[in-house]
Amino acid sequence: MEFIAIILGSKSDYATMQECLNVLEKFDLPYEIIISSAHRSPERTQKYVLDAEKRGAQLFIAAAGMAAHLAGTICAMTTKPVIGVPMNGGALDGLDALLSTVQMPSGMPVATVALGKSGAVNSAYLAMQILALRDSEIAEKLREDRIMKAKNVELDSQEIEKRLP
Ligand code: RP5
Repeated sequence: MEFIAIILGSKSDYATMQECLNVLEKFDLPYEIIISSAHRSPERTQKYVLDAEKRGAQLFIAAAGMAAHLAGTICAMTTKPVIGVPMNGGALDGLDALLSTVQMPSGMPVATVALGKSGAVNSAYLAMQILALRDSEIAEKLREDRIMKAKNVELDSQEIEKRLP
């Protein structure tokens, strides 16, 4: 069975990443989620990544904060796409996680999304966009979602709009 594999560096990342799960559930996309750290449980992380890939993981979403090496570590273990979600928090409030996640060496990409909740949401959308390349049903769901988003902008505007003649 094909699915999206989500790994959180810590339980403290769960509340933010709930935003990602909400999107995947809204669009009925199968996913797995576990907590495993690049630093605190490297062997568990490697075991899971290799096993998930064998069982049908199409791509990985990794959420981590501070010295966020989780996404890069997963990238080193698989050639499936890896989406990195840097978490807010810590003394630098996420800037450390953003740079640790995005600044990968050449040939080892991590698709890094925005910090925090927006990034969590976008990780789900980016995952869907990757899967939609060869899944027309997901592609159609994304198209409908874009139409809804555009309609919502108009509805929001109608509530406050004031135009001069
Ligand atoms: C990272 O360190 C985790 O991904 C988390 O964002 C951050 C803090 O972890 P905890 O100390 O809250 O477990 O590894």
